This record gives sequence, structure tokens and C-alpha cells, in this order.
Amino acid sequence: MESAEIRRRWLSFFEERGHIVVPSASLIADDPTLLLVPAGMVPFKPYFLGEVAPPAPRATSVQKCVRTPDIEEVGKTTRHGTFFQMCGNFSFGDYFKEGAIKLAWELLTSSQADGGYGLDPDRLWITVYELDDEAERIWRDVIGVPTERIQRLGMADNYWSMGVPGPCGPCSEINYDRGPEFGVEGGPAVNDERYVEIWNLVFMQYERGAGESKDDFPILGELPSKNIDTGLGLERLAMILQGVRNMYETDTLRVVIDKATELTGVRYGANEDTDVALRVVADHMRTSVMLIGDGVTPGNEGRGYVLRRIMRRAIRNMRILGSDGPVVGELVDVVLKTMGQQYPELLTDRKRVETVALAEEAAFLKTLKAGTNILDTAVTETKASGGKVLPGDKAFLLHDTWGFPIDLTLEMAAEQGLTVDQEGFRTLMEEQRERAKADARAKKTGHADVSAYREVADAAGATEFTGYTHTDGEATLVGLLVNGVSSPAAHEGDEVEVVLDRTPFYAEGGGQRADTGRIKLDSGAVVKVRDVQQPVPGVSVHKGVVQVGEVTVGSGAYCHIDVGRRRAIARAHSATHLTHQALRDALGPTAAQAGSENSPGRFRFDFGSPTAVPGTVLNDVEQKINEVLGRELDVHAEVMSMDEAKKQGAIAEFGEKYGDRVRVVTIGDFSKELCGGTHVHNTAQLGLVKLLGESSIGSGVRRVEALVGTDAYNFLAREHTVVAQLTELIKGRPEELPEKISGMLSKLKDAEKEIERFRAEKVLQAAGGLAEGARDIRGVALASGRVPDGTSADDLRKLVLDVRHRIPGDRPAVVALFTVVKDRPLTVIATNEAARERGLKAGDLVRTAAKTLGGGGGGKPDVAQGGGQDPAAIDEALAAVERLVAESA
Ligand code: ALA
Repeated sequence: MESAEIRRRWLSFFEERGHIVVPSASLIADDPTLLLVPAGMVPFKPYFLGEVAPPAPRATSVQKCVRTPDIEEVGKTTRHGTFFQMCGNFSFGDYFKEGAIKLAWELLTSSQADGGYGLDPDRLWITVYELDDEAERIWRDVIGVPTERIQRLGMADNYWSMGVPGPCGPCSEINYDRGPEFGVEGGPAVNDERYVEIWNLVFMQYERGAGESKDDFPILGELPSKNIDTGLGLERLAMILQGVRNMYETDTLRVVIDKATELTGVRYGANEDTDVALRVVADHMRTSVMLIGDGVTPGNEGRGYVLRRIMRRAIRNMRILGSDGPVVGELVDVVLKTMGQQYPELLTDRKRVETVALAEEAAFLKTLKAGTNILDTAVTETKASGGKVLPGDKAFLLHDTWGFPIDLTLEMAAEQGLTVDQEGFRTLMEEQRERAKADARAKKTGHADVSAYREVADAAGATEFTGYTHTDGEATLVGLLVNGVSSPAAHEGDEVEVVLDRTPFYAEGGGQRADTGRIKLDSGAVVKVRDVQQPVPGVSVHKGVVQVGEVTVGSGAYCHIDVGRRRAIARAHSATHLTHQALRDALGPTAAQAGSENSPGRFRFDFGSPTAVPGTVLNDVEQKINEVLGRELDVHAEVMSMDEAKKQGAIAEFGEKYGDRVRVVTIGDFSKELCGGTHVHNTAQLGLVKLLGESSIGSGVRRVEALVGTDAYNFLAREHTVVAQLTELIKGRPEELPEKISGMLSKLKDAEKEIERFRAEKVLQAAGGLAEGARDIRGVALASGRVPDGTSADDLRKLVLDVRHRIPGDRPAVVALFTVVKDRPLTVIATNEAARERGLKAGDLVRTAAKTLGGGGGGKPDVAQGGGQDPAAIDEALAAVERLVAESA
């Protein structure tokens, strides 16, 4: 059975059993705790946690997944792939253990003719979590699996979570015995090569906290409901159903191996080493294409690094196999061809995928030769001095300058009998990361090189900030950069960065956005300031453009900040402090600040909370904040020692480092917080604070967004207009809206149901005519034909059964009806007992009909259903059914 068919059967099996089919999400996880999607359940996580209501109680998907921790195993074992497709079925508080187990067993063991996978039940072995008596009982007593084929394992094997705080639960795995040629007997507890895990059923019931390992983490409590998350490895099942020894030889990967053998001239099966290399190429090239397809581009960090590492490993393995020119183009081409069948967007995106892949190959090949020379020299040196460990700085140089992923260096060193000082390598990487962060800060000013600012800072000293008390004031221009280069003068139209000895402009920091405004020089020149940053701590750089005149270092200046913007930012910042305190009061000290952004008239505030904050709590918080505004509390700031601040109970901001002297902002008796920002003088200035809602931005971190002052007013005024329009439409008072609208919706639903009933009745009315019109085909009553397009599968089935019922039971009867739904032909066929005695089975008839229609189908001998692609072939399918009926006589 081909991979595409395995996938199709999966989705239709669960769809027929009430699951909504959800397309695969992108490999780029919409979850800050993950780099890439490692399991089918990832897109459903918020439903398990109860953060979002699920769109339906049951869902199914075939999800693209990437896992790289076992990258070293790829090609060496039979079943480790960096990319795989996880087929899943999910229940959100709907069926639980027994339901999941029954579904899984039915799909795996029902015959291929009946739409299942047709696995021999005697080859299936089950593992359950050691404390899960219930699961064992179901497998044994409900399904009938012999006790000796059910094994109990510990948490490391049979307890599943994402490895990070989140949903979790005990699990039960279904394993397939591949037979004695794959090793000793004893079940999956003993031999996981012979007894391959194919399907994991997770009984997702608890929420876990942070922990050290797979079997060491605290259970925080129960999830809002008992859920099911399952994962069947499509590639593993393909390996079994296609009768091949390993996943690399299944249909979608084998073609890539074949292409690699064609490009290198190495025969697959010649020897184990080259076979491993060929499998690595196949696996890695497929993963690379899938990652690029989802928008990942090669880089030195995060996802980009995962891709780079995988792609470069593939290219290098091709070289080990003997290729010396470019190979990526042709390999990408076969992957696109085979995977494009299931993921057509790859084909639409072909140009981009090819461009990204080819560019990475070109970049790597350019450095591979030079890097290999460096590595060889380092290896020779190490060996000459009697060492066995390649120094960390060499590995770092290879990574940083020559783009060698660390495992490439490890592999190449190992080939020459050396290990690598990985600790040293990691330290240097960490240092580089720190430098990169500093550079990123500098980049905000537009230039990566901070040395220019440092020179200015050394010459001029720190900038004095006068903006706590002033919005304008005199200063002297002490440093000037034009296009990032230190210059004595700048002219009209120049992009400049200006450093002053003192400034009222607030530089972005502590979550508060920078001021904008104008600097007037004594010469009459004007610089329009659009951003202010501190690339070197303490030195404010005003970034902008010279509007008129000439700007020279040393000249006197007069600063004006945009006062309206500053006031709106100050209102937002004071509101943030109030929100912080009110959330702490409501949720406790875990609601500590994790980040914030204060912009004109709006702010967002991130804080710790293990769960979503209920709407009612948020309403209370908002109410409390607005009450505080009305109390007209004074806001003032004071500089004091850290000890004193602590003594006064001031809240210190998350992750910030403070010197011994700190600034404490106090809002009446309500809030006290370490802060360098600018604030209002009195809470009454805020006018109004409107929280817009809260959401998750990561594990245990929530975000509220809010509007302040006129921005809040404008928002409410807009909502008011909408409510007014609705009351006008509905002719009711605003407070009646929810009830009236919900009444209308339920009436609408009833009406839809009524229409549905009429429609079904109408379809069934045809039954009498169809039964009467049955023709006699050599003693068999055949009622067949095409009913109006758009008849649903359910209605068609009802109709077929009704017609069969109307034909007297002693006569052999076959009812075969066809329709077209959404341009696709659909058929349901039923036979009565007398017909079945003559060998006319509905399942066989449907298979023949569906084949003619260009599709497939199946079912029981008495009634079966099928479909296809080509509505024009219905007449032919009718004739085919009639022929079979005639032949049965
Ligand atoms: N989420 C489960 C797994 O990945 C099904 O194994």
C-alpha cells in the first residue's frame, strides 16, 4: 500500500467516525516552547489545556513532524527519520481510553478490502503504563489480546508529554512483530527492532511542570477534561505494509535513494557504509525540502541551523559517496515530485524551494574545501603533539568562518580517530552569542559597529538625561555620525546620529518607546529626530535627518521633544504599573512582569501565569485600575539605594540589572516599582484604561494589551456605535442583545434542521419509484440509477436501504445508487440475503464500481460505500454492476 493511500485511509476512517479533518500545520510551530513541530498534537495543545474551546469534540490529522535529537541514528537503524508524518486522532473530552483503543484496533486489523490496514492481530503487541490497570483490562477483556502480549513499562516508555510543561498522560503503544529474522523474541520490552512501535495512544489527562528528564517532573493537576492524543508513524506503517526492511526503502524515500545512486554510481546494497550514507542523503534531503517549503531558511541559529546542519550533512554524504559537483538540484527535484503528491503547495512553491536549496549548496561547497584543509591541518597538528582531542577553538573557527555544523566536525574528526573538545566549543559559541546580542542592540541604531559610539562616549562621557523634568532645553552637540561614520559636519538631507552632552529625549529602554522631536542648532540647522537608542549604556544616540542647514560638532543646540507623544507614552507607562500591581493583587506574586511595551496611548504587559486568566478576573482588574485613576493618586520618583528600595517593598522588574542606586516610581499607596521611565504626575491624567484581553505568548507567560486615555475612549466609542446599530436592527435595548441574538440563532438552527428534514424526506420519497422500477437481471431484482446531485452519503445510504426494504425478501435483490457530491461521484450498494447467497456481496460490487469511477471503497457484504474522481464514468459503473449481477446467475 502506498504512503498516499495509507494517509487517505487514515483520514477517511476517522472522518467516517465523526472526526473533523484538520490539515497539517506548518513545521514552524506556533508555540514559543518549540523550534519545530515534533508531534501531531502540537496544533491542538490549547484545546487540551482548555485555553481555547475546540472546534469539534473529535479531530484527525496527518501532521508533518521534524525531530532531530536522534540525527546520529539516521540510516543506521531501520526507523529513525528526521522528518516523518504523524497520523493522529484526537478527542477533546469526548471518547477516552476504551474508545481510542477500539478505534485503533479496528483500523489496524480490519481487512484492506474493508478499508483497514489488514494487519494480522496475532502480530500485535501492546505496552501499557505500569500503573494503568484500566488500559490493560480493556486490551485484554474488551479487545481480547492475550495477556502474554501485553507488557507493562515505566514512565520513560509509557508516559507521554512534550518534554516541557504542558499536557501529559499515561500512554499505550501498539507494536508490530516483524518476525524472527529481526531478532530475539520477548516483545517490545525486550527488542524494539523486531517489535516496532507503530501507534502511540496517549490518555491526555494531566498537566505537568518543568522537570529534568522524561520520567522526572511534577504533575500540577488534572486538565479540564480527559482527552485522547494518538500518533501513528506513517513511515513505519508503510515499512510494514510495503514489506521493506526499513523506512528509507518505503516508496517516498526509496526514489531519493535511487536518485542518489544514479548521481554517484554507488549501488544500494553494495555495503553497509555506503547504504547508511545513501539513507542519510534520502532522509536529510526530504527533511530539507519540507523545512524550506514551510519557510525556514538556512542560518546559524535556531531553525535555520537545524536546516543548515541537515542539508550540509546530506551534501557531505553525497561527497563521501563520490560525487564532486552540485547534486542538490536533482535531489530536490525527486523529493518535490514524490512529496508534492501529498503536499501540492511544494509544487506551487518549487522556484523558491529550489533557489534556497541551491544557494545553500553553493555556499557550503565554496567553504567545504577550505574548511576541510583547516580541519586536516588541525588533525595533523593534534596527532603530532600526541593528542586525541581536537581543540574547541578549531571547531569554533570551522563553525563560525567555514559554516561547518559541529556534528560535521565531530564526524570528520572521528573518521581520523579524534574526538572534539565540545565543552570548549560551546563556551566560545556562548561568548559569540553574547556578542551577537550586543550587536543586535547596536543594530537598532542602524550600525553594527559600536566602536564609533564608544569613541564618542569616551570623549564626551555619558549623556545627562533631563527629560524627567523637562521636555525641551539647551545642549551641546558632542558627537556626530553620518552614515555610521564619525564626521565633523553634516548637511541638509544627511542621515545622522547625534550625541549631545545632555538631552530631554528618552532613549528606548525598560519597555518604553523613545521620544521623537527636533534639535535646533545655533546655526539655524534643524535635525528631525525619529528614534533614540543607547547602543553604549549611558550614551543616547539621536537618529534622524538634517532638515535644513549644516550641523557641526561643538555647536550649541536646543531640543524639543514631541510633547503630545511623550504624554501619551507616560500615560501608558503609568497604566502599566497599575496593571502590574492589580494583577498581582488578583493572581498573587507569580504574576510578575515578563516584559512590556509602552507606546503612545497603548501598552502591552507580559506576566507569569500557569493558566489563562478568566474573563471575570480580568474585568475586576480593569475595574480596580479605573477606580485608582479616580482616587487622583500622586505619582513620584525617587532615587535611593537598592537596600532601601527593597525595604520599602518596591517591585523590581524582571531580568533587569540595577546599580546600587535605583529609581523607584511610587503611585500613591497603590504601587511601588523600580523604573527608569517617564510617568504622569497624577493618576487622574490617565482618564481611562481599557484592557483588550489576554492571551498566551509562551509556556506560563500571558499578555494583556490595553488602551489608555483618548485611545481607550475612541475604542469604546466605536464599540458603542456598533451596539447602537445592532439595537436599531433588532429593535431592542442594548442589554437585550445577547438574548435576542441567541434566540435568533437558535431559531435559525431549528429552521435549518427543518429544511434538512424536508430534504431527507424528499430523497426518501424516491424510494417507492426506484423499487418499482427494479429490473430483472437473470432472476435478480436490480434497482440502480443516479439520484439528484448533492444527495449526502448519509441520505444515499438511507435511500438504498429503504429501496432494498421495499423489494420482497425472497427475491435476490441488489440496489446500487449513484450521486455526485462536490464534483465527485459517490455510490452506495446494498444486497439482500438471497442475493448474497448467490455470491453478490455489496463490498465487491462497490469495489468494482469505485474502480470504474477512479477511486476506491468498501464495506460489509450487505451494504458498502465508495467514491471516485470522475462523475462522467457513472454510466460505465452502472453497467459494470449490472454485468456482475448478470454473471452471478
Ligand atoms: N503525541 C504522541 C506522540 O508523539 C502521540 O507519540
